[in-house]
Amino acid sequence: MKYSLMSTYKRLPVTFVRGEGALLWDTGGKEYLDALSGIAVCNLGHAHPAVTRALCEQAGALIHTSNLYGISGQEALGEALTDLAGMDTVFFGNSGAEANEAAIKLARLYGSRKGIKSPSIVVMENSFHGRTLATLSATGNRKVQAGFEPLVQGFVRAPFGDLDALQAVAEHQPDVVAVMVEPIQGEGGINIPPADYLPGVRELCDRMGWLMILDEIQTGMGRTGRPFAYQHFDIRPDVMTVAKALGNGVPIGACLAHGDAANLFAPGHHGSTFGGNPLACAAALTVCQTIKEGRLWDAAESVGRRIQEGLRSALAGAEGLVEIRGQGLMIGIQLDRPCAELVPAALQQGLLINVTADTVVRLLPPLITTEKQADLLVSTLSSLLRDFLAGN
Ligand SMILES: Cc1ncc(COP(=O)(O)O)c(C=O)c1O
Repeated sequence: MKYSLMSTYKRLPVTFVRGEGALLWDTGGKEYLDALSGIAVCNLGHAHPAVTRALCEQAGALIHTSNLYGISGQEALGEALTDLAGMDTVFFGNSGAEANEAAIKLARLYGSRKGIKSPSIVVMENSFHGRTLATLSATGNRKVQAGFEPLVQGFVRAPFGDLDALQAVAEHQPDVVAVMVEPIQGEGGINIPPADYLPGVRELCDRMGWLMILDEIQTGMGRTGRPFAYQHFDIRPDVMTVAKALGNGVPIGACLAHGDAANLFAPGHHGSTFGGNPLACAAALTVCQTIKEGRLWDAAESVGRRIQEGLRSALAGAEGLVEIRGQGLMIGIQLDRPCAELVPAALQQGLLINVTADTVVRLLPPLITTEKQADLLVSTLSSLLRDFLAGN
């Protein structure tokens, strides 16, 4: 058979054919515990019955019409998602990058309305916002950008978690109209900012008349122990982007807005052929309802704590372990050395994990992970890590 896929991915030698909850099975029938959820996508686990039912029913009725017409499922999802997120309005696209593109366009329009000819957005070092031209330009990682210059203009870079640096930008860059930031950096290495950072960003945005844009694409939909990570604080963003877990695997992204930003877009400003189509909205509405009815963010908080505590005690004193950090089911294990080889080693033992920023083992298990599965994850991973750190 001719292999015709572009080599954009370094794939592991495994193909999955079936899933149920936090478990997956490969072509040979081997079982795996999924501690990655397709990179924070399948928060309800695989083959969730309510999502499957909603998709089957919707596929049998109507998959797609067009945003030229009313879409009742999109309106219902809009209400459910804005309620869960504490926002006013929403635009639906098909991915995280597209959600961020909408947010960037919204910020530029906001600036242009204020008479700023060349508006810029403050973005962070080590951030990740996507692979389209504007979002890779916003991303704070040269590896993502190299070879794709010229980059899109209109971004000013600042160190993540540093309010003084943001204040300096405010003093020296008159064309800034917004700050775009992840509440916890995911691809950048599960980096958690100081507790006063997001409230400080909010305060600065209020003072400067900037939009606060939160990229909750990885942190959202219950993962960190709240429906959205910003809800750990007494603040609200002006713009927020969501994707990944919104459809539990069905491609859908959303750009939400509150206050002044909520009614900036008018007909002709933005659009998408597939965005918010009936099939994707049926899945996402079920996801919102399931997460809300089951308060699954509470499970994320308690199972996440169990995993972090379990790892801390199993790895106590391990040489080369720098830090275990995280919030809810977004967990990073920082080592003192590159550790990409742990991913195939874990796979061999039936465990799906990820390594990001070279030295950080990243865990993003589904929110429905049971305590027993959490304990299995801890024991399998801690023994792998001990062996790896001991050089075995
Ligand atoms: C924080 C964040 N923003 C944006 C994206 C891009 O999302 P997508 O791959 O759906 O375009 C990602 C993907 O990893 C992400 O983690």
